Amino acid sequence: MRRVPDSVVRPAYAGVPGPELYDGSDVMDAETVEKMRIAGEVAADSILIAAAEIRPGITTDHLDKVAHEFLCDHGAYPAALDYRGFPKSICTSVNEVICHGIPDTRPLEEGDLIKIDSTAFLNGVHGDNCATFYVGEVSEEAKLLSERTREAMYRGIKAVKPGRQLSVIGRVIESYAKRFGYDTVREYTGHGCHVAFHSGMIVLHYDEPMLDTIIEPGMCFTIEPMLTMGSARNKQWNDGWTVVTRDGSWCAQFEQTLVVTETGTEILTVPSSGELILGGDPTTIDTSKIA
Ligand code: MF3
Ligand code: CO
Ligand code: CO
Repeated sequence: MRRVPDSVVRPAYAGVPGPELYDGSDVMDAETVEKMRIAGEVAADSILIAAAEIRPGITTDHLDKVAHEFLCDHGAYPAALDYRGFPKSICTSVNEVICHGIPDTRPLEEGDLIKIDSTAFLNGVHGDNCATFYVGEVSEEAKLLSERTREAMYRGIKAVKPGRQLSVIGRVIESYAKRFGYDTVREYTGHGCHVAFHSGMIVLHYDEPMLDTIIEPGMCFTIEPMLTMGSARNKQWNDGWTVVTRDGSWCAQFEQTLVVTETGTEILTVPSSGELILGGDPTTIDTSKIA
């Protein structure tokens, strides 16, 4: 586990087996949302600064180090670190790894698809986001999977309006994924995300009309679809974390933390440049725009 300076405030779940049950609301007041914009910006920038290092031969442990140091330098605690015992500061999930990949010493290879998921805890709130990037030149089918997963996330985000059922998100995402023959992961979901990292409210990425939560202004949660080229059936490695597809098919993921407004949503995980994270080719990232 990497060192966190004493000046960085730790969340309650660090150093204990797991978080306390959250029984508060998923609706945040304006003051809390403002804090979330700041945490969200740092979380987004931490992905960009790490992703800018992506190339064949670089290890995921190096990406972890870069994101960790960036977060700490900005006063943020890397929320993954010691969350239910997770040993690293970000999740790095390559190819058939769906999510919760643990950064390690495997060098990235030309053609790999890597998901970086980074969460900042700052001023008592969380900003959680993820994007998929290419290592060198990747196959056309991998690029399409990644771009369509990003599009699926944005379609889910656009479907969010106060008064609608939360299940509209999964309906939109699953129907878009199906057009291309992609499958959508069911066991890992979006979640209420604010003062709590995972509040207990879940956001499905597949159609489930029984989920009868109604969307309200001020609600803060993530949308984070994981789409697979083949079947989304999955298993966990015996490291207790890494989730992989059973058939070895590749997976892409994008995630944003957002707040529901009177008319739709505002994305909170916006980089300091003001331009949303696109993923894809990491050589296009302009690190001079990161504050
Ligand atoms: N950031 C992930 C999510 O989107 C959660 C990672 S938990 C960890 O919900 F412990 F694996 F880091
Ligand atoms: Co999340
Ligand atoms: Co995440």
